Amino acid sequence: MSQVTPSPLGTAVVTGASSGIGKVYADRLAARGYDLLLIARRGDRLAALATELQDRFPIRVEVLVADLAHPDGLAEATRKISADSAITLLVNNAGTSSVEPVAQTSAETIAKLVALNVTALTVLTSAVLPRFLERNAGTIVNVGSVVGFTGYPWVPIYGGTKAYVLNFTQGLKQQLAETAIRLQYVAPSGTVSEIWDVMGVPMSSLGEGVLMDTEACVDAALRGLDDGEFITAPSVHDESLIRNFEEASTTLLAATQQSQPAPRYSPRG
Ligand SMILES: NC(=O)c1ccc[n+]([C@@H]2O[C@H](COP(=O)([O-])OP(=O)(O)OC[C@H]3O[C@@H](n4cnc5c(N)ncnc54)[C@H](OP(=O)(O)O)[C@@H]3O)[C@@H](O)[C@H]2O)c1
Repeated sequence: MSQVTPSPLGTAVVTGASSGIGKVYADRLAARGYDLLLIARRGDRLAALATELQDRFPIRVEVLVADLAHPDGLAEATRKISADSAITLLVNNAGTSSVEPVAQTSAETIAKLVALNVTALTVLTSAVLPRFLERNAGTIVNVGSVVGFTGYPWVPIYGGTKAYVLNFTQGLKQQLAETAIRLQYVAPSGTVSEIWDVMGVPMSSLGEGVLMDTEACVDAALRGLDDGEFITAPSVHDESLIRNFEEASTTLLAATQQSQPAPRYSPRG
């Protein structure tokens, strides 16, 4: 099944669509009727997915093979996204992780984590914004992680990049508060995907019932998006924990707006 008419919903960009969570996003957004621009490094996987989705749904799928952790790949993706006026939804999903202790992590690994999880996500967000602002419409979904909520000893560098994604998305949401542009921070917990191979941690070592199915994670994230949620954490059953977290952070920031040091810091003696 294929057609040449552009989708009335526009084009959804999914980074990291060649596996895991991004692949399921591609499937679900295709089912909703979006045209797609799929980005990742493994072109064979993207091509196979594009063919499959165009067979199953009356949509157009384009692929871009790009290493988003490399300046050239990111520049190519940025050019493509900036030039495409059909884009209405950006899912910044591509991400990588490492469980190496910080003292043993090479500068190259650290640079790659930051380049993909932080720089690429920020640059691609910036690339869609001019058109979204022009139209006063558009949606940005930034895939973070539950380890973005607070430091976690297993993955301080990865967690730090996801804390950036949360903070960036929160700040941007406030910057765009007067617009109709929608933002969502998605915080998966452990989810079935190839990221465990990337980290060298066998999924089987995690025990029964620890990992969420990829489909369940994405379906919950999309339900959260449909419901207008800002933070969607599929595995968090008690919603008040998220509200309290947001309130506590906002209250703390507001309380910092003082020109004088707090009395507990007065000179000793
Ligand atoms: N699975 C979990 O437990 C979990 C938990 C919390 C958050 N997350 C987040 O969910 C997102 C998706 O991860 P996943 O779990 O689905 O892992 P995954 O199966 O490893 O998927 C990662 C995707 O990112 C792409 N990617 C990696 N490096 C890239 C690069 N340099 N340039 C372009 N694309 C690149 C990969 O494609 P190529 O290799 O083909 O480039 C792949 O499509 C990530 O942001 C991750 O941090 C996952």
